Amino acid sequence: MNILKQASLTLRLVKLKRFFGSLFYPLQRDYLERRCYTHQTLEAVEEIGNIEKAEPTKRGGHFYFEEIDLEICFLSAELVQVDWRPGIPPISYAISHHDWAGVEVTFQERENAWVVSSTKLKVIVDADGRLEFHNGLGQTLRKELPPQRRAKLSRQIKSEGWVHQAQLRSHEHIYGLGERAAPLNLRTSADKGKPRTYRMWNYDAGGIYGPGTDPLYLCIPIYLSLHKEGSYLIFYENSFPANFSFQALAVAEFEGGALRYYFTAGSPTQLLEHYTELTGRPPLPPRWALGYHQSRWGYEKEAALQKAAKGFETHDIPVSAMHLDIDVLDGFRAFTIDPDRFPHISELAQELAAKEIRLITIINPGIKADRKNKLFQEGRAQDVFCKLPNGEPAIAPVWSGFAAFPDFTNPQARHWWSRQYEYLLDLGITGFWHDMNEPGVFVLWGDPSLPPYSTRHFMEGRGGDHREAHNFYGLLQAQAAYEALCEYQPQQRPFIVSRSGWAGLQRYAWTWTGDIETSWAGLRQTIPTVLNLGLSGIPYSGSDIGGFKGNPSAELYLRWFQMSCFMPFCRTHSANNTKPRTPWSFGEPTLSIIREFLRLRDRLMPYFYTLAWEATQTGHPLVRPLFWADSEDSNLWNVEDAFLLGDALLVCPIVEEAATSRSVILPKGHWYNFWDDTLIKGGRQINLETPQDQIPILVKAGSILPMQAEQQLMLQLYPPIEKDCQGIVYSDAGDGYGEWRLDKFQMRRNSKELELSWEEQGNYAFPYESVQLHLHAVAAEQAWMDGTEVDLKGKVLECNRFQQVRFEGI
Ligand code: GLC
Repeated sequence: MNILKQASLTLRLVKLKRFFGSLFYPLQRDYLERRCYTHQTLEAVEEIGNIEKAEPTKRGGHFYFEEIDLEICFLSAELVQVDWRPGIPPISYAISHHDWAGVEVTFQERENAWVVSSTKLKVIVDADGRLEFHNGLGQTLRKELPPQRRAKLSRQIKSEGWVHQAQLRSHEHIYGLGERAAPLNLRTSADKGKPRTYRMWNYDAGGIYGPGTDPLYLCIPIYLSLHKEGSYLIFYENSFPANFSFQALAVAEFEGGALRYYFTAGSPTQLLEHYTELTGRPPLPPRWALGYHQSRWGYEKEAALQKAAKGFETHDIPVSAMHLDIDVLDGFRAFTIDPDRFPHISELAQELAAKEIRLITIINPGIKADRKNKLFQEGRAQDVFCKLPNGEPAIAPVWSGFAAFPDFTNPQARHWWSRQYEYLLDLGITGFWHDMNEPGVFVLWGDPSLPPYSTRHFMEGRGGDHREAHNFYGLLQAQAAYEALCEYQPQQRPFIVSRSGWAGLQRYAWTWTGDIETSWAGLRQTIPTVLNLGLSGIPYSGSDIGGFKGNPSAELYLRWFQMSCFMPFCRTHSANNTKPRTPWSFGEPTLSIIREFLRLRDRLMPYFYTLAWEATQTGHPLVRPLFWADSEDSNLWNVEDAFLLGDALLVCPIVEEAATSRSVILPKGHWYNFWDDTLIKGGRQINLETPQDQIPILVKAGSILPMQAEQQLMLQLYPPIEKDCQGIVYSDAGDGYGEWRLDKFQMRRNSKELELSWEEQGNYAFPYESVQLHLHAVAAEQAWMDGTEVDLKGKVLECNRFQQVRFEGI
């Protein structure tokens, strides 16, 4: 039998095995679940009863109702923790800050109510259990109804959850909830005015999804509200399955756990600062990670990868990293390399490293449950797998066949898992792509994960079931990987991209929007999905350029690419049965336009990198909704086809086929057209041309946009209309944890003069050989540098370091 015939026979056998696996497993899952939990025989709603006692505590107050008690605890003046008990208290996997400084809190009793306040927030507790949240100005931000405790009783289990409701104003807008294939404003109704329900249950969309699919891989019970009196954020620290909906009431229904949530108020920028003070800020990624990534499911052999890498050289296209999908695995087993198809992976990694291309490989969490599999044997011996009630590992079908799943809620399992990365790091792999970590398994029907009631987890020793542990799975896997990489390569910053996760994932990993469909609707969906991830604290994401499954037209690929050049994670990826997809796959003019866009992204690297550094300080996403510029302008609350990259750039992707122009609603102030410097007045809707080789990009008046070319720092000066403005550039070695520097610029405009001053901070040597100042929209007659007149070539001034430059006669 020739090799091709044999390969196709093997493939058919694998497919057949997979089919039987996904048929057999749900039968077994449903049987186990029935034994463990006969569905609700009674649903009882408990009211909280009347208040019996209220007393002040150091940071707030304790309130005892007949059935329930409530604790209000100010962690800081801006952030309050609310705990309704009883219920299983959460394990604080999402929380990174535990040691809060003292805060001044007052506790007052009124008629039938108590007021607990800091200098910035006020919580009013009504005798019937209603809560109100006010800001420091006395404006009412949120009104909550008394929570209800809902018990589902069955013979075996009493499962107790919560229903929590708050009033919404008719004009109130809601954002967040992690990764959603929904409109930006989550309150927007679905088709035919049907209200949307958002499920909290990390979910493998099964190879393809489009707008409206819910849930997706990375759910986070956090939302941000905007209304005329202000904005607030609420984060429920409850990992149990839940449903959220937003009509006249915001309703959150949790299937278990305690009702613990955090409330904070302020502008959207402040909300993200407060939230990430609690759940952690993203570390600085290695600088290369902000470059372009090329990926494909279907680089079946080393030669295919080498050929693709060569293509980047031939076509003179910058590329930072290449990703290897499950093709690289030996029998699809985790932490293996197929010795036949990738026999020289080390050499390959070195070869690519010489071209400054890093190799990233996929890791799936399922460990093939096979006696011959050493990792499985080791895992069993160390007792690190999720278990069934009989103590045996929970087994479910994935790519490698039936597999066991490490229980990342067990510190020993995390440690064991951490140790596995060393092998791949030694081979020269630089980064890791965590896939299928909801965890996703193959099923012909029902939920594609482990049995929720019958899978047991360690939960740091206190025990729990998969309902509680499921949403933590990807987060804790990322934690284990991050710690491993920090330990084995202390001089390098970890790069991990994870499909699933929960609150706090930003501390360890990036994400991408999974298997989005190849369509214009898929492209359009990417914008609100990435924006809502950013508003949920996850700043690094992007989508498969061109969509995952299917073959985009040249136009769709190009428009998707142009957009992705302004998103944090810029990667082409596609399914195995698609046509090859690289920047040159569509020939000209697509190739040249993509090359120009990738070069532009490269030139913008000082800007991207500075935004990444700012995220480490503030938790602000790099890509932001337009209302970030002015949250009081309700015209911006629904804009979901454009986004801000940092504060300076407003990017308007083309999301319609054959579009020759598009409209955009501009925030107030003034904006310059990036392509021709035209000054445009904001606060209105405008129409812009969309030739194939451009997408509309606007620069905020009063921006100092740092760009680079070779060894030169190019400061693009977009003068303010009046007043001053600042700009900063963060630099360091691009990896590791050494010295850093901040170059801070201040631009001042007087009637006929533009002045730029420069201050430096930090010990990292200035990494550029020279500086170029580029005036936009204005021309000057003369320029003075530190008091000496210098030669000005048109709008460009070549210079070295200075303290002050003055342009005269503008
Ligand atoms: C999943 C991933 C996708 C990957 C595929 C094969 O569908 O979302 O990115 O290519 O699995 O590993």
